[in-house]
Amino acid sequence: MSENTPFVLGILTSGGDAPGMNAAIRSCTLSALQSGFRVIGFTHGFYGLLDKTYIDLDESTVRDIIHCGGTILKSARCPEFKTAENQQRAANNLHDLNVNALIVIGGDGSFNGMLKLSHYYTGQLIGLPGTIDNDIDGTDHTIGFATAVETAIQAVDKIRDTADAFERIFIIEVMGRHSGFLALNVGIASAAEQIITFENFENPGKELQKIAEHIALCKKQRGLSSYLIVAAENLWPGGVSQLAEDLANYANIRCTPCILGYIQRGGAPLAKDRILATKLGIGAVEAVIDNKTLIMIGESNRQTCQIPLTQAVAHQKTVNKALLAAQESVLDIAKLAKSHLM
Ligand code: F6P
Repeated sequence: MSENTPFVLGILTSGGDAPGMNAAIRSCTLSALQSGFRVIGFTHGFYGLLDKTYIDLDESTVRDIIHCGGTILKSARCPEFKTAENQQRAANNLHDLNVNALIVIGGDGSFNGMLKLSHYYTGQLIGLPGTIDNDIDGTDHTIGFATAVETAIQAVDKIRDTADAFERIFIIEVMGRHSGFLALNVGIASAAEQIITFENFENPGKELQKIAEHIALCKKQRGLSSYLIVAAENLWPGGVSQLAEDLANYANIRCTPCILGYIQRGGAPLAKDRILATKLGIGAVEAVIDNKTLIMIGESNRQTCQIPLTQAVAHQKTVNKALLAAQESVLDIAKLAKSHLM
């Protein structure tokens, strides 16, 4: 690298925003500046590559952002990036701008975009796992997951108050796309009576029977008081409103459906996400300096690690099955002997 032509690092955030993305942008930027790089941030995810829209990132741009949700670079899903023509266009733009390395902070869709881009782009490509869904392999947690769990729990705790006051059954839908990390963690931490997630779902018929029997048992043993079902999105055909209707038709059970939705994506990141994002951002720039490419920086057993991008999107990581089993055994109050319920 000569004095006149600094190494140029591009950064972008893509897909669903996740609390801690700003902390990751800050840490990548500061680490890269320390190494004498020029740092630019492409805006609106992969659209920034297609449209050549970017901002220069320096110390002042990343000052006072560590505590902010969302992303200062904006984010987007970019279906246009699926065509070879646009992947080539993005690569051409990166080459035109002399970008030597690109760090993408996002989820599996973003990583798949990077893999496509690698067919045309000759620079280095490094991924950072930023998604509330936690559905990325090779890292114990993704940036944003811890905060999303906490945000959802706080909402569920409030719903519990109403459920308790009205002795009502609520079905609460949490995000997670097609994985159950949010559902299981939120369900366990809010002491939900039922957790319906991809990993324990058989079919709607069996599920209706299971829920109806469990509600009847709880009612018999302790009076209903309150009853919360935490359900993963994209699981029940027709969603949780349909589940409420199905339970009414199946067993005359009245439930209130409640979709938590986008509140789970926003808000100030917890310390856990800020620190994870900071560590992974430093790791990403170290990987750039080590001339690595097509890897994701993750954290496994508290150690920063490097995982091939192809492995990061393999969807082999599963929820904690022992915890899921505990929900249906030791944590199930309907299984307690009646004498212990008094
Ligand atoms: O991937 C994050 C996520 O919030 C998922 O949990 C959810 O299924 C999806 O994004 C929603 O996507 P969109 O913002 O495109 O509606």
